[in-house]
Amino acid sequence: MKGFVFDAYGTLFDINSVVEACKHITQDPEGFSKLWRAKQLEYTFLRSLMEKYKDFWEVTEDALIFAINSFGINASQIERKKLIETYLYLKPFVEVEDALEHLKNHELAVLSNGSPMMLNTLLENNGLKHYFRHILSADEVRTYKPSPKVYALVPKYLGIPKEEIFFVSSNSFDVVGAKAFGFKVCWINRSGTQLDELGMKPDVIAKTLEGMIGALGL
Ligand code: LAC
Repeated sequence: MKGFVFDAYGTLFDINSVVEACKHITQDPEGFSKLWRAKQLEYTFLRSLMEKYKDFWEVTEDALIFAINSFGINASQIERKKLIETYLYLKPFVEVEDALEHLKNHELAVLSNGSPMMLNTLLENNGLKHYFRHILSADEVRTYKPSPKVYALVPKYLGIPKEEIFFVSSNSFDVVGAKAFGFKVCWINRSGTQLDELGMKPDVIAKTLEGMIGALGL
């Protein structure tokens, strides 16, 4: 494999970091954060189908407003701003930095639905940006994963054929989409969930990036 390409949210960064911030506005921060994430993804799928692109920051904010309203919460503009800004300070999973250090002699990239501002800020805030030769955002093609248009950014920018790229994601829909596009794929199944029944199977399944490195014998 010549290049390793990582999804961001849920794969490198723990979206559950927002739970802490949600504690300030609800008694059920886990439920709130789950609904927020579910709507965020749903809106990316719907906007892709409708061809009505808005960037991931705006989509994340719309999903937050939906969650606030459905929980019947009275949140001020300032509280809303604080919540959405947690996306710029998410924490990486514990093994991420060591895994990137281990893989650093390969061509490394991020491919995410996140907007360039969100991805650059998040990687900088965590001191991880220097590991990646390319930080690729769906924003460039104004649609979202799992559209093949987004995955096609990888061979275009890395200059490596898709069969020689190892794509790494914890999100089942992303695993399926990347496999459908033609990458070799590793599913980081952190929470032991079930793979979607869409006829695509990952090449490797591991619980963590460390597990993936072990499974590949690297
Ligand atoms: C991303 C979402 C899918 O980083 O987690 O693209």
